Amino acid sequence: MAKDDIDHSRRKTLTNSVAVVGGIGAAVATWPFISSMNPSASALAAGAPVEVDVSKMEPGQQIQEIWRRKPIWIIRRTPEMVQTLGGLTEKLRDPDSAETSQQPAFAQNEIRSIKQEYLVLVGICTHLGCSPEFKPDPGGDLGAAWQGGFYCACHGSRFDLAGRVYKNMPANKNLAVPPYHFISDNRILIGLTKDEAEA
Ligand code: FES
Repeated sequence: MAKDDIDHSRRKTLTNSVAVVGGIGAAVATWPFISSMNPSASALAAGAPVEVDVSKMEPGQQIQEIWRRKPIWIIRRTPEMVQTLGGLTEKLRDPDSAETSQQPAFAQNEIRSIKQEYLVLVGICTHLGCSPEFKPDPGGDLGAAWQGGFYCACHGSRFDLAGRVYKNMPANKNLAVPPYHFISDNRILIGLTKDEAEA
């Protein structure tokens, strides 16, 4: 789908609901259609994996879940969004995700994901724990060079559409990728890598 075909107004409505969380434990919205058959609240708080159905996601859309009291974002990237990732290497602090603490091994690459279409991130700024805003559209109030990504309004850190932090930002690490794997074409289990689930 072309970038212009995306329902920006709807997406904006969804992403505007993603408030600053100020770190772990703050209240954040959970989208009603994405969770089903999930464990009890006490199991979730203890860290049980969370299953997410992404079949109804629109191209370019961001949704949010909670795992271990952290906001977990899933973004369905368009081909145009993925295309921006290759041209940013010189501008990024850790373009190859060499900082191993920030993602499982499967995401230590340019797209930082299992499927390039679906990006899964912990929605907490690596500076001081605010929740960055999803700003997928190029240009706009972030300037002509902005290619889309995440912007943390607390102190101005910028991240690309793979959660990689730009150089010379207050944040000095890429946004974290949680352990996860696909249990079917459209269902993601957040909390365990495939290897961990099969162990
Ligand atoms: S908490 Fe995000 S830039 Fe400071």
